[in-house]
Amino acid sequence: MCGIVGYVGGRPALDVVVGGLARLEYRGYDSAGVAVLADGKLATAKRAGKLANLRAALEEEPPPAGTLGMGHTRWATHGPPNDRNAHPHVDCTGSVAVIHNGIIENFAELRAELEEGGHGLESDTDTEAVAHLLEDELKSGGGLADAMRRVCRRLEGAFTLVAVHSGDPDLVVGARRNSPLVVGVGDGENFLASDVAAFIAHTRDAIELGQDQVVELRAAGVTVTDFEGRPAEVKEYHVDWDVSAAEKGGYDYFMLKEIAEQPRAVADTLLGRIGSDGRLHLDEMRISDRELREVDKIIIVACGTSYHAGLIAKYAIEHWAGLPCEVELASEFRYRDPILSPSTLVIAISQSGETMDALMAVRHAREQKAKLLGICNVNGSTLPRECDGVLYTHAGPEIAVASTKAFLTQLVAVYLIALYLAQVRGTKWGDEVFAMVQLLERMPEKVDKVLETMEPVRELARSLAGEHCVLFLGRHVGFPVALEGALKLKELAYMHAEGFAAGELKHGPIALIEENLPVVVVVPPRARDVLHDKIVSNIQEIRARGARTIVIAEEGDESVEPYADTLISVPPVPTLLQPLVTTVPLQVFACELATAKGHDVDQPRNLAKSVTVE
Ligand code: F6R
Repeated sequence: MCGIVGYVGGRPALDVVVGGLARLEYRGYDSAGVAVLADGKLATAKRAGKLANLRAALEEEPPPAGTLGMGHTRWATHGPPNDRNAHPHVDCTGSVAVIHNGIIENFAELRAELEEGGHGLESDTDTEAVAHLLEDELKSGGGLADAMRRVCRRLEGAFTLVAVHSGDPDLVVGARRNSPLVVGVGDGENFLASDVAAFIAHTRDAIELGQDQVVELRAAGVTVTDFEGRPAEVKEYHVDWDVSAAEKGGYDYFMLKEIAEQPRAVADTLLGRIGSDGRLHLDEMRISDRELREVDKIIIVACGTSYHAGLIAKYAIEHWAGLPCEVELASEFRYRDPILSPSTLVIAISQSGETMDALMAVRHAREQKAKLLGICNVNGSTLPRECDGVLYTHAGPEIAVASTKAFLTQLVAVYLIALYLAQVRGTKWGDEVFAMVQLLERMPEKVDKVLETMEPVRELARSLAGEHCVLFLGRHVGFPVALEGALKLKELAYMHAEGFAAGELKHGPIALIEENLPVVVVVPPRARDVLHDKIVSNIQEIRARGARTIVIAEEGDESVEPYADTLISVPPVPTLLQPLVTTVPLQVFACELATAKGHDVDQPRNLAKSVTVE
């Protein structure tokens, strides 16, 4: 979950590397550092804290200008986030520098071996061991790439490594296992990064690296091999978004921009899914209709916000496709004994496609011979490569740590999959599927309408900035929405926030209700009368106990008015699709409340965008 950039070419490397780090800071912001090779000499600089601290240090003491360099922005795993533990790490001779994303699991024994061999290690990190291992391997000859391949064969765990050596001043070497690394291909220059956002300002041509591969990057070209040195096949692709998508575009925070982009993101994710025959077609669904007809159980695995999308998927899949569906936190999945068979379809949902918990769950499912379908927002990431089929969401780059537009597009993706399953399995008529897709196609305009009416929600959020706790209640698909509202508030405002199924309240959580406690209630459409009436009773129960009720209900729902201290109206939509409109006020609420408390909503404390460790 750190950000990595490497560059070799004709420009000042420091500018390219620091510019790239600025776009990767979402991956970690505990500390940052750079290394530059100039006149055959290695220079490094690193600072604890955000990139701004490093920039200030570089201004005060600029390193010599060079055209080859690399940089790192860190989310600490081994050792506290201080200057000493910041990357790059260098060997004893000061000629090799290394940056790293991931965890080297056998680092303790490697470190002991190195210390015994006389190496002096200065940091608490696992990364530093690699710099010293490279130092030893370089002594046996063969150059930096050979040394990297030999070192990688000794490492256990997950890692992206990038190294430079003053003995080969035109070469950057990268390696990856279970952790992201992409190559940006330029004209007389080449780039390495954890994410294309780092080099999108310079090139949109990229190469996807596979597992256990080493890349040699020179200004004149790129060579990729496996860890044994055998030439590897690589997949080139063109990035279909440009640099403006990775910038704030006039908003104070990426999160605000990404919330505002949701109507477009939803529309883009729906684009091109309906064929001229009126039937759904899903891209890269490399699982045949025959195989989908044989599926007898679905298990969804995901983490955090993506898990909430999975919870909503369950309702859609069971209702439309008539298939039993379980939803599991990816981090728990492989530690029990999930019952999987070749007729189980495992759907993994991940915005980044790099979340280690999700990848490990997918690998476990693969071993048990289940079919695998990924829902992912990042082309070239690991998840799509490890699944039999993939449905891409088209949210564009999501930079803010808290997921917003990716969540809405994940919902669109799971609705499409549920309807596709209904289509191929014949649990819905073609015209029924088509009618539902047409309703989905109207959702961007509904989301837009919600966004236009958010000022009272922002005002409410500001008025609650002094509170210590907010509860969220929902039923049916409103329950995962309540969980998502609570998660957003926790991660951004650092407040105690809990989401409950409204029916569970009386089984315990109602004891939490006290005078003036803000409770947000997500009310289902009136058309689901039993569900609706039950939640109206729940609102009365909490209000009777002093709660301050904030009610999200469809426009014109007068039945809730008497019990709502604050009423937030959303456009009427079918029950299953309602999360697309009810989630938006909760995102705005959390973002505004956190901002009112003075927090940086793009980079909440202790978090990182992409969690590439288990
Ligand atoms: C919360 C949030 C996280 C992610 C989770 C999974 O706002 O963003 O909970 O949803 O870390 O990430 P992905 O979807 O990339 O696997």
